[in-house]
Amino acid sequence: MVAYDPFAPEVLEDPHPVYKALRREDPVHYIERFDAFALARFADIWDASSNPALSTARGTTPSQLLTRVQPVTPMLNLMDPPEHTELRRAVKPYFAPRRVRELEPTIRSLVCEYLDKVRERGQCDAVNDLAQQVSVRVACTAIGIPLADSDHLNTLVWRFFAREPGVEGMTEDGLRAAEELSAYFLELVARRRAAGSDRDDVIDLFCRFELGGRRFTPEEIASHLSMLIIGGSETFPKTYANALHRLFEHPDQRAECVRDPSLIPHAYEEALRYDMPTQFLGRTAVSELEIGGRRIRPGQAVLFLYPSANRDELEFEDPDRFDIHRRPARILSFGAGTHACLGLHIARMEGRVCLEETLRRMPEYEVVAEESERLRTEFVQGFARLALRFEPF
Ligand code: HEM
Repeated sequence: MVAYDPFAPEVLEDPHPVYKALRREDPVHYIERFDAFALARFADIWDASSNPALSTARGTTPSQLLTRVQPVTPMLNLMDPPEHTELRRAVKPYFAPRRVRELEPTIRSLVCEYLDKVRERGQCDAVNDLAQQVSVRVACTAIGIPLADSDHLNTLVWRFFAREPGVEGMTEDGLRAAEELSAYFLELVARRRAAGSDRDDVIDLFCRFELGGRRFTPEEIASHLSMLIIGGSETFPKTYANALHRLFEHPDQRAECVRDPSLIPHAYEEALRYDMPTQFLGRTAVSELEIGGRRIRPGQAVLFLYPSANRDELEFEDPDRFDIHRRPARILSFGAGTHACLGLHIARMEGRVCLEETLRRMPEYEVVAEESERLRTEFVQGFARLALRFEPF
């Protein structure tokens, strides 16, 4: 019988062989140590994502569901219907395709600005020099946070995700970073309220919004905004680095993208499918339910192994092949159902624009493996640094 523990060294090293065994032998796998079920198959996760018996209110991250050190504070993604539905409906227009289209010139000029900073060097770190800089600024713009604060926020988000060898879950410093993030937003909200601000942005929406006849407290608003900046800035750089890495490994597919940039959105989508950085998010059962013939009781955690779902042979033909010509009907990189990613239009546009400008300026870049660094945690897998070498332009 296949054994799966998200903290096991072989899982941290390369989870895909274990995920494959789970899909084949035990797709709804019980982990006794955490009293949790891990879902490995695409269809099970897709369906469970809309199942009202599964709640996000006790948290969705590994630290909330397994090691339980990260406190659960009010956030959109941790609310259940009907309150979640009401708030999500109010926030959604700020992330709708029309708004996001308006962001394209900003995104393009940010990418060009950061590419210009490295152009003469002939080498750079695609994560920290480029994507991280762009993505925190795009998230700030989309939310309404002053751009001048983006470096500070970038550092806090980075600390939040840091892990220490031998420590399961978040570090002490990561927990402190979460508090500092909250303090930053408390001050921002206080300034907005003192100025009687009434802007058409996400921050003022949270300040104005009434749920069940009550306004959010500053602490609640700070918590919602922390989630948005973390979710909005952290994942994108890893997906961009993965796309560059896989295109380098497949030079013929990279050449096709250079010749025909209309293939770039498909290349980014394939990189999202192939290398989903978030290893899992989860739910807690609030009433009894059954998945794949296994009974799940209230209080038990259910983990969605998203990267496993994206390589499910029942959903994708030859799933371990990287192929930019695939046109999948659906992928699970942005989740699905009730809590599907609100920022997916931003992420897709960021991916397209960043790859267009990168491939235009450095079509022959090389990935320098010895100088790159991989992040291997129970939560996130991907490049912490991706070293590129290229012809100065
Ligand atoms: C490549 C980048 C991104 C990826 C891969 C990604 C992925 C995801 C996933 C998998 C979920 C589902 C969470 C769950 O299952 O519990 C999610 C939710 C969410 N994402 Fe993203 N995301 C990205 C970028 C963004 C951006 C740029 C924003 C906003 C600026 C954003 C905002 C959100 C929000 C608000 C939710 C929660 C929605 C809800 O609970 O109703 N994301 N994202």
